[in-house]
Amino acid sequence: MTTTERTGTGRVDGGVPVLEARSLVKYFPVRRARFGVGGSAVHAVEDVTLALPESGITAVVGESGSGKSTLARMLAQLIKPTSGSVLLDGKPAVPGRSYARAVQLVLQDPFESLNPVHSVRYHLARPLQVHGLTGGASLDGLVTELLERVSLTPADEFIAKLPHELSGGQRQRVAIARALAVRPRVLLADEPVSMLDVSIRLGLLNLLADLRDRDGLAVLYVTHDIASARYLADQIAVMYAGQVVESGPAAPLTDEPAHPYTQLLLSAAPDPDRPTPPTLAAQGAPPNLTRPPSGCRFHPRCPHAMTVCTQTAPPAFALTGGHSSACWLHARDLTAAQSQPLQGRGRGGQDDGPQQATAKETPA
Ligand SMILES: Nc1ncnc2c1ncn2[C@@H]1O[C@H](COP(=O)(O)OP(=O)(O)OP(=O)(O)O)[C@@H](O)[C@H]1O
Ligand code: SF4
Ligand SMILES: [Mg+2]
Repeated sequence: MTTTERTGTGRVDGGVPVLEARSLVKYFPVRRARFGVGGSAVHAVEDVTLALPESGITAVVGESGSGKSTLARMLAQLIKPTSGSVLLDGKPAVPGRSYARAVQLVLQDPFESLNPVHSVRYHLARPLQVHGLTGGASLDGLVTELLERVSLTPADEFIAKLPHELSGGQRQRVAIARALAVRPRVLLADEPVSMLDVSIRLGLLNLLADLRDRDGLAVLYVTHDIASARYLADQIAVMYAGQVVESGPAAPLTDEPAHPYTQLLLSAAPDPDRPTPPTLAAQGAPPNLTRPPSGCRFHPRCPHAMTVCTQTAPPAFALTGGHSSACWLHARDLTAAQSQPLQGRGRGGQDDGPQQATAKETPA
């Protein structure tokens, strides 16, 4: 599999992605309709399509409330999509034990996900027993292997400890080892390092990279930190207000961000490895998702916003190299009226403007 080429959509050429989200939508009802009127819902995820290839790390990046965890929870089948589908090996995913084995979720807070009264041995032995994976081998031997796999060595020093006797980074390694116990094919890691000290984050990110490279895992890395996504991921999908606004291979996407929102994220995350950090002055905060803005959801904050942006949601425009961006600035056939800057806004704080569309337009 590693000999095949990756494409910009996160697929591996010639192979079916291990896990796919197709047009996933999630609305959370927050007020019941009375006699058919007055109901409202949070539009948390809107029409998200994503493919996780074997031996690949796909990052989902966005601000708080952009829908990242909701997407991860739908992929883990912990919540049901309002519409759309999840596919495992190209087939509709069936919730149940075998799906739970194949697709494991690691959460942000390792303290919350580990039971304070149980030892490391218990946390790692339990899934092996529940799924009947001991195969006659010694349970302690298997637990030791798992601890070594996540670099908690010598394993003897950790096996009998309780969660509170471990550091945050060690706890997160135990949570990852527990996920690995059932030999999954997909690891969904929701902000796995954001609660850890900066000094130990790199070690955890390198562990995820190692799981991709040595075990061929398909990894979803959820983060608000685009710099760490650039470091770790092969592909990045940028989410804003429940939608993917830009996606593509990590280095080109972060070197030449095409969407004004990605430019905003990058301008807030200086990175010495990036040639020319973009600057963009955007105003305001993410929208209320019970009543998302019309047209492009980013238009109330976007310094490039034009008349068309308030009226019609932009489709995803395919750019070069598997990169795509949902922004009207890539359209070549806007009328003068449609491309009129919104009153009081110039054409933004970016010298060159976003990357031009070079290929066909794809449906949003
Ligand atoms: N169970 C729920 N009921 C109602 N609204 C919800 C529910 N879960 C999430 N939301 C809302 O859905 C939107 C997306 O939330 P989500 O947790 O997916 O965002 P996120 O990108 O993971 O944010 P963060 O970075 O803060 O974790 C938010 O507006 C959130 O308040
Ligand atoms: S230019 Fe328009 S379509 Fe593009 S991000 Fe700004 S508001 Fe959205
Ligand atoms: Mg979240």
